[in-house]
Amino acid sequence: MIKVLVVFGTRPEAIKMAPLIREFNRFPEEFETRVCVTAQHREMLDQVLSFFEIIPFYDLDLMKPNQNLNQLTADVLIGLRSVFLDYLPDYVFVHGDTTTSMAASLASFYSEVKVCHVEAGLRTFNKRSPFPEEINRQITGRIADIHFAPTEISKANLIREGIKDSTIFTVGNTVIDALMWANVKLENYEDDEIRGLKELLVSTKRVIVVTGHRRENFGDGFLNICKALSLISQRDDVQIIYPVHLNPQVQKPIYDILGDSANIHLISPLKYPAFVWLMSQSYIILTDSGGVQEEAPSLGKPVLVMRNNTERPEAVAAGTVVLVGTNTDVILLETETLLNDEDLYKRRATLHNPYGNGHSAALIVSKIKSYDR
Ligand code: UD1
Ligand code: UDP
Repeated sequence: MIKVLVVFGTRPEAIKMAPLIREFNRFPEEFETRVCVTAQHREMLDQVLSFFEIIPFYDLDLMKPNQNLNQLTADVLIGLRSVFLDYLPDYVFVHGDTTTSMAASLASFYSEVKVCHVEAGLRTFNKRSPFPEEINRQITGRIADIHFAPTEISKANLIREGIKDSTIFTVGNTVIDALMWANVKLENYEDDEIRGLKELLVSTKRVIVVTGHRRENFGDGFLNICKALSLISQRDDVQIIYPVHLNPQVQKPIYDILGDSANIHLISPLKYPAFVWLMSQSYIILTDSGGVQEEAPSLGKPVLVMRNNTERPEAVAAGTVVLVGTNTDVILLETETLLNDEDLYKRRATLHNPYGNGHSAALIVSKIKSYDR
């Protein structure tokens, strides 16, 4: 029996680890699987756990309002020690680039437990952008024993850093497994949030969905984004829907500046199925999110990424994603161009799947089964 501990703390990690947990749970004779949430996020995490029916075995319940990275890092390191002593796992699975993932990798290393890194090898090679994620994932990659890279580009990044080829598996991204699962479920599913969105949206106006939460955009970045949204909202052929991230550093400027805008709907973060439904209804997505950049190509939705660089060049190469930074004029111009030029829009709105076909979790589990421990 292989003892697996899956550790995560935030909304996107939960969405992307959910398919893997379900897959491990299909093989109870071979794997004992326990989930530990740090609860770096709380409400935004819990809604995902509930949708995917995941019951954590351990819940460190760490989130504090307006928490800082030092405290969070220390709390994860300390909290996980007793979890490892209690469970003595063979493998710890961590995801991506959050502070939970970085600190959980370090805690695993200190307890001499093997680390498996899902969504390994993404890089901008700019340690300040995204901050602190670029360094979080580099540290996690340095510690990890097995690397599950989503694409050949991410695998090549790891090879260049001297990681042994035999420890890297290119498996696609489990975000697509989750998205496909949600899409199937949505065929016979409607909750209060989806009903509310249906009432809110005007059928004659195109929907622009906005999300944003990156730390490097705090301050001027968010001010510029708000100015751009305000200008875009003056068109009467569009409506802007913005589920605002719960980070107070995001909530305050967004509600202060855009709170009274008639054509901009600021709403609470949506539960995952409602957000997937909203993306499917959108014309354009404006975001700085990592996960949304990966989901949009599968949905055929053009994305303007409000960042200066991305660790996800695959969708940029395919034309779905365009980097617009946080300059008000550039965001406005690129949005107007997509809204006004139908041919360009059609070229950008092409469906494609750079991040896999929805079988990533199955691939990961099969690699672990045959991995020589
Ligand atoms: C974190 C991750 C980031 C990831 C993002 C996904 C780090 C350093 N940052 O950023 O990589 O892209 O999650 O959303 O790991 N809050 C709530 N309720 C919640 C969630 C957050 O109130 O359910 C508020 C709290 O005040 C919290 C604050 O948001 O202190 C910041 O949360 P934190 O996880 O530290 O940072 P994020 O910006 O969410
Ligand atoms: N998402 C969600 N509700 C929302 C906004 C986003 O469920 O209101 C989902 C989205 O589909 C994606 C993930 O959350 O899978 C992205 O999370 P976030 O942008 O917070 O983090 P990142 O991917 O940038 O780390």
